[in-house]
Amino acid sequence: MPTTPDPRRPRIAVLGAGSIGCHLGGMLAAVADVTLIGRPAAMAEIERLGLTLTGPGQARREIRDLAVATDAGAAAGADWVLVTVKSNDTAAAARELADHLAPQTVVASFQNGLHNPALLRAGLPGHRVLAGMVPYNVVRTGPAAFHQGSGGQVMLENGPAAGGSGPGAALAGAARAAGLDLVLRRDMPGVQAAKLLMNLNNAVNALSGLPLRDQLGRRDYRACLALCQREGVAALRAAGVRPARIGAVPPAWMPGVLGLPDGLFRRLAGAALRIDAQARSSMWEDLERGRRTEIDTLQGEIVALAGRYGLPAPANARLIELVRDAEAAAPGTARRWGGPELLAELGRAAG
Ligand SMILES: NC(=O)c1ccc[n+]([C@@H]2O[C@H](COP(=O)([O-])OP(=O)(O)OC[C@H]3O[C@@H](n4cnc5c(N)ncnc54)[C@H](OP(=O)(O)O)[C@@H]3O)[C@@H](O)[C@H]2O)c1
Repeated sequence: MPTTPDPRRPRIAVLGAGSIGCHLGGMLAAVADVTLIGRPAAMAEIERLGLTLTGPGQARREIRDLAVATDAGAAAGADWVLVTVKSNDTAAAARELADHLAPQTVVASFQNGLHNPALLRAGLPGHRVLAGMVPYNVVRTGPAAFHQGSGGQVMLENGPAAGGSGPGAALAGAARAAGLDLVLRRDMPGVQAAKLLMNLNNAVNALSGLPLRDQLGRRDYRACLALCQREGVAALRAAGVRPARIGAVPPAWMPGVLGLPDGLFRRLAGAALRIDAQARSSMWEDLERGRRTEIDTLQGEIVALAGRYGLPAPANARLIELVRDAEAAAPGTARRWGGPELLAELGRAAG
């Protein structure tokens, strides 16, 4: 499968080839020489079968024109390195990359959470590290097969540069040529904060055991998310962070919209439910596979921020405890919370 490098095509390495890494790398392989770097079993599957990507309204893509590797050393010589490991693995990923990157290599974090770009900058001094954001959901549906379950624009930081063309422009151009809807933003801290507020649903979804569309379609679960978001909005405001608008509804209005009756919610925020029937949060996937979740960089971020400013965040704090319990259960056996009981539990925590 490895191909002869074409000097006219950008060279892109993806460190952490799971759901998001395989999706971005697979798309970009249309216009770039892509190397996916991931775990041996997953990379062997891709080497054997090629990569299959599916998504709403998209033709099935079968991609064989990419290279796979299991060592960060394969990023040597890349123009771009996309980091798509889970947040718990970011510092280690930076350590692994540090000895291999050429000085001009640009690194982009396409991870959730607020601090991954800063962790990469600290571990890769001298390299330009850009923050990115993937709005849609991707799940592994089988060996070497990944499905995009919702939509939205990928966002990438474009720092200031002479002539208006910042360092993200080249990657954005390649992404668009490959059919990825990617926009450059100059307000990535706000974008990441808005995404964090949305990602507070990951824990609610994981504990519900339901597909995202079913869970978000039920008012009690949405009310759980609204409790978390209200605490999050207050903590971010105290920290002077203004969540950017990244969807149809401004972030500050979202808790109110989430609390609407199901029919009205569907009418006002229909886009939020434009999700494949089977799509689930990656935190649900982590619990099913017995992996550590990203709860510390999602609800944990809000609790830490609130604590710093003397604000309460009891709903987020209780969700951390419930996800910890679920992490301690055998894979696939975690307690499934109904909407009314989860809402009552969070309400009790909030007093
Ligand atoms: N999935 C989604 O729908 C979605 C959507 C938007 C944003 N995100 C964010 O995107 C990031 C990636 O999520 P994901 O769902 O794609 O995670 P994922 O499926 O777990 O993919 C990450 C992969 O990287 C591997 N890995 C970790 N460290 C590595 C290393 N040093 N070298 C090689 N491989 C390594 C992991 O293996 P092990 O599991 O064995 O460690 C895993 O296979 C997260 O921050 C997530 O919150 C996800």
